[in-house]
Amino acid sequence: MPKGRLHMSENWIKMTIFAGEITKSDMRKIMKKLIKNVVLATALTAVSAEVNAGLAFDPTKGTEGKMEMYDGSEVKYRAFEKLYYVENVEDSTYQYLNVYVPEGATQKTPIFLRTYVGGYMASAASQPQAGDASGRALKEGYVVVIPGTRGRNSTIVADKAYSKAHKGVKNGETVWTGRAPKAIIDLKAAVRYLRHFDAVMAGDAERIVTDGTSAGGAMSSLLGATGNNPLYEPYLDAMGAAKERDDVFASVCYCPIIDLEHADMAYEWVYGGTKSRQGMDESHRTLSAELAMKYGEYIDGLKMVKPDGSALTAENYRDYMKEEIIRGAQIAKNAGAAIPDTLGFEFSQSVGGMFAAPLNGGMRGSFKPMGGEKKQIPGGRQGMPPLGGQQGEYITDIDMATYLDYVVSTQPLKTVPAFDSLIEGVNQGSGENEEFGDDKGSSVNFTEFTAAKNNSEVTAEVAANVRLMNPMSFLNDANTTVAGHWYIRHGSRDRDTAFPVPINFATKLRNAGKDVNFLLAWNRPHSGDYALDELFEWIAEIVK
Ligand code: DHB
Repeated sequence: MPKGRLHMSENWIKMTIFAGEITKSDMRKIMKKLIKNVVLATALTAVSAEVNAGLAFDPTKGTEGKMEMYDGSEVKYRAFEKLYYVENVEDSTYQYLNVYVPEGATQKTPIFLRTYVGGYMASAASQPQAGDASGRALKEGYVVVIPGTRGRNSTIVADKAYSKAHKGVKNGETVWTGRAPKAIIDLKAAVRYLRHFDAVMAGDAERIVTDGTSAGGAMSSLLGATGNNPLYEPYLDAMGAAKERDDVFASVCYCPIIDLEHADMAYEWVYGGTKSRQGMDESHRTLSAELAMKYGEYIDGLKMVKPDGSALTAENYRDYMKEEIIRGAQIAKNAGAAIPDTLGFEFSQSVGGMFAAPLNGGMRGSFKPMGGEKKQIPGGRQGMPPLGGQQGEYITDIDMATYLDYVVSTQPLKTVPAFDSLIEGVNQGSGENEEFGDDKGSSVNFTEFTAAKNNSEVTAEVAANVRLMNPMSFLNDANTTVAGHWYIRHGSRDRDTAFPVPINFATKLRNAGKDVNFLLAWNRPHSGDYALDELFEWIAEIVK
């Protein structure tokens, strides 16, 4: 039963009676409301009767299940699967969500919403995985929700009814159902569904923590950054999403692929000078330089402030980026990681002598246990003098050229431009070109820069979609409810998007007064759901 509505009716009835002003018409209204509430109370699946007759949730329909964790423990849960979250389902393979309620969860338990979107592809709702954050969330006692979403590759074949309802679509024609901004619209509809049935479903829809990686990190960040923004409303309306709010409490974003309209510039601004870029042909080097040139102006336009209160500008940005990489590496060093000087790091002078860490992060090649024989250390550096070349406690500097060459050595860079593509046409450009394509399966340019190089333009429709897919668009928007808590991670050797993309996002959120836990996580490649002990400590703290 929608608590809010029933309470409102009760209050209204109480207030009317209390005021001693009952007229015949009031009495009729009271009777009508009472009857309606009784009807609602007796038909659990009809909770949505008032505005969303096509949505249903039956709390008696759960099935028992269990998940085995790696420590041998078992988590028992009730599963509610295949809950369609819109009235007008277009793609029945994806537009539903699964809910897992662990033993002991109540109405007040926070909800962990994990999206498995990757590469902007469609993703079907699945079960929690013991090895990732979904399984860990269940083990921690949170209600886990996994929505499916349409994506750039999802298609249906139009039948008669569909072609009748959609102008320009022929019977039997293939329709791409999930091009931008459909994935985020689906996720918003899922959040609205959870709110709609909040009173009859375990878990607290006012405390939803979203989580995703890469394109899924983008989705998680969009859920957090675009709450209740009216620009999404027409889509949600047309889909028959629940008429509810769609803001969330917190968002966990691993390596979010966001700010696509500036990501190409950021990429060349960072990697333009690296060896691999210098090895490119003349035309690509020119493109790289042109893109890089544009980024400084963008940085300054963001009007960002560093944690110490000073302005973050194009002039000091490279130093700040360095400080952020060092911060991540220092945390890892403190925890015992080897930080090799060969990657460009410099260290404070070691007074500790033999007790300081070996340079290069290497270990001594051998050791001699007391009273035992000399042994080789697996992976140890043969022939390394035991006490030679020690590093001090602090990382004091980093040579960025050396460091970036290291990053690139772990995975080759994307081409120029990194996201928008010079090649246009179906199945030729990047995943992002497909993402912004239309329901006929086209691929399109989405940045002014690359469109101009291709002698085309970004249409108003594509530009609107680009905006809807960028959480940066809404951080200071009066019509938007931005989540209060953010956990953002980007690996310090992740080259899928350049470091300034997550740095800017975290900084803008912080500057907007949000609680932001951000780190360029030492030596992590493009990946997510890591350091789960730390993540779940953070979650426990914010939901306390
Ligand atoms: C993903 C990775 C990319 O490099 C990209 O451009 C888009 C999405 C991903 O892993 O989801």
